[in-house]
Amino acid sequence: MPLNVSQHDDGPCRSVADLRKAIVGLDTPVPLLDGSERPYVFLDNAASTPSFRPVLRAIEDFLPWYSGVHRGTGFKSLLATEVFDAAHDAAGEFVGADLETNAVIFTKNTTECVNKLAARYGFGKEDVVLTTLLEHHSNDLPWRKHARVVHVGMTHDGHIDLEALHAALLRGNGRVRLVAVSGASNITGLCAPIHQIARWAHGAGAKIFVDAAQLAPHHAIDMLPDDHPEHIDFLAFSAHKMYAPFGTGVLIGPRTFFGQGDPDAVGGGVVDIVTLEKAVWNRPPQKEEAGSPNVIGGIALGAAIKVLRSVGMDAIAAHELDLLSYAYQRMATVGKVAFYGPTDHLEEKVGVMAFNVDGLHHSLVAAILGTEGGLGVRDGCFCAHPYVKELLGVSPEEDAVLTAEVIAGDKSHMPGMVRASFGCYNTHDDIDALVDMVERIAKGQYKGNYTQNRATGAFTAEGFAPDFQRYCRIAGPRVPSRPHSEAS
Ligand SMILES: Cc1ncc(COP(=O)(O)O)c(C=O)c1O
Repeated sequence: MPLNVSQHDDGPCRSVADLRKAIVGLDTPVPLLDGSERPYVFLDNAASTPSFRPVLRAIEDFLPWYSGVHRGTGFKSLLATEVFDAAHDAAGEFVGADLETNAVIFTKNTTECVNKLAARYGFGKEDVVLTTLLEHHSNDLPWRKHARVVHVGMTHDGHIDLEALHAALLRGNGRVRLVAVSGASNITGLCAPIHQIARWAHGAGAKIFVDAAQLAPHHAIDMLPDDHPEHIDFLAFSAHKMYAPFGTGVLIGPRTFFGQGDPDAVGGGVVDIVTLEKAVWNRPPQKEEAGSPNVIGGIALGAAIKVLRSVGMDAIAAHELDLLSYAYQRMATVGKVAFYGPTDHLEEKVGVMAFNVDGLHHSLVAAILGTEGGLGVRDGCFCAHPYVKELLGVSPEEDAVLTAEVIAGDKSHMPGMVRASFGCYNTHDDIDALVDMVERIAKGQYKGNYTQNRATGAFTAEGFAPDFQRYCRIAGPRVPSRPHSEAS
């Protein structure tokens, strides 16, 4: 059935309790292995969240006015420009950026933000980016393309080894130009003391970049005034992790920084004037947003921020802390479950719980949760392979064997974990559904017969072949590919 936004409760969101009604698709039934259906239990918010209904409503309201921005002279273009620019301001204000001195640049996601910053930084061969073992690949691999990357390790329980980080900065003799840390881990949920690290980085003549992809949806962020010793110089986050999955990422940093040098991507929109010999770049953020921007994505993010702010990030953080503490309490009663990262001082974490069930492959557990429980979780190494392998105690020798197997096309032994991650709209009932299923799995009381695909490592249950189109009319069937002879 087509989504009719106005059929649902469209009231304002003033408290955490209102947020559940504001989520699109929460009552959507999904098929289970035994032929029954149940409403999907969405516990994969660290990957991507569902959309807020007010976000859809904002898009609906805006679409009659949709037009290209910045270069049109018609009324719709003027209006669209106003709304799109205001979304930039809302994103900056959301994290306490000084908008006089900082540019708010829209990209498509955090990954693109880090790639842009790494390309724009102008690193020399000897320049060091100091990062940590805990990072998502998006806050690691882009730096490796442009600078020498030094990884600080973790403590026995999965925190950043802060002493080692401080020592590396002091030892760096000014060669460390940037410290790149995530505000919260997508594996353990652990939050880094970003302001303390900023103070150390500045003391050593470096700047700090915070990957806030996992932090921004859950905790209030304050980049602090530019001249504060604990100011965050650069910060990035993704709208699809904060209830606005329409393809926008946000990169914030000094206007003077982005005002210098050439943009990483060039083309339309980034110039004031072009001759056959040269181009004069315009001012950031336009200078850094080459081509026609994703206006709808920006407006969606602005609308999501409005909802989050009207409820309040502190209230959201308190609710998610309650969920996490309930989840650990309940899961601890199951037995046969191993957790990764600390299970106490939960106020230092966002709502992420990584675990394994004794003796069972992580992908099998995730498949059973989905197929027999209607639960959406994720498993594997979550784009943070070094951290996950360290938490699991994979030795360098084992790692070498695994790498060889993967290169040979076999992912069946890839280590990993199952991850349940909570959003502002989740409830104790969602956690009960998870724990009840994990308990059944741990007792061997699952029903399906599962086989593993060696190439992907994923498990599927025999006989589970849901008709996607029955659930979502745009889901199929796929257009058959044309025979080669017909291709032009
Ligand atoms: C900590 C962290 N950083 C960066 C990213 C990359 O975000 P995106 O996929 O939006 O580029 C993710 C995504 O899961 C993440 O968890």
